[in-house]
Amino acid sequence: MIISLMAARSDNNVIGNNAEIPWKAEGEQLLFKAMTYNHWLLVGRKTFEAMGMLPDRKYAVVSSSLKEQISEDVCFFKSVDAALGYLSDKTGLVIVSGGGQIYAETISRVDVIHLSVIHCEAKGNVFFPAIPEKFKMVFSQDFRSNIDYTYQIWTR
Ligand SMILES: NC(=O)c1ccc[n+]([C@@H]2O[C@H](COP(=O)([O-])OP(=O)(O)OC[C@H]3O[C@@H](n4cnc5c(N)ncnc54)[C@H](OP(=O)(O)O)[C@@H]3O)[C@@H](O)[C@H]2O)c1
Repeated sequence: MIISLMAARSDNNVIGNNAEIPWKAEGEQLLFKAMTYNHWLLVGRKTFEAMGMLPDRKYAVVSSSLKEQISEDVCFFKSVDAALGYLSDKTGLVIVSGGGQIYAETISRVDVIHLSVIHCEAKGNVFFPAIPEKFKMVFSQDFRSNIDYTYQIWTR
């Protein structure tokens, strides 16, 4: 199973402020929507509660406080390993979709990172982890918007 990670961070490395994403870069979310369509997303409980469910995606939610539960579209697991173990029998691709805790716990084991760098200094209290040195940027494209951003792909 390929483990992919998708995130957007500001120039100063912020990904969130409490439950919110503290910017609105028009168009940027289209990348996320296109890439995740019909796929399994791995998220932390806080991101799941904040984002809700997009249609046509399946969610594996990690939480120590919620009961383990398996269903067609949303599953709850006690650990990242339990979630990945279950998904490896179900799918060839999972997309790690936040938030800060889940990125930090998985970044060293993902195969590919899709990162939007939003060109602003955002105020926030949740940060993107350092990208391990084994990753190299293989693609970068700048986009003009109300807030400019750069879409990058990093692989091992
Ligand atoms: N910019 C972006 O691309 C992006 C994307 C997604 C989210 N975000 C932002 O990220 C922020 C949320 O991130 P966050 O770090 O606060 O929370 P999070 O990673 O979404 O969720 C944290 C929760 O996940 C569960 N969890 C994490 N690791 C676990 C483990 N090893 N075992 C069991 N449960 C585990 C725990 O749930 P329990 O407390 O239930 O145990 C924990 O409280 C928000 O601001 C959101 O807007 C940004």
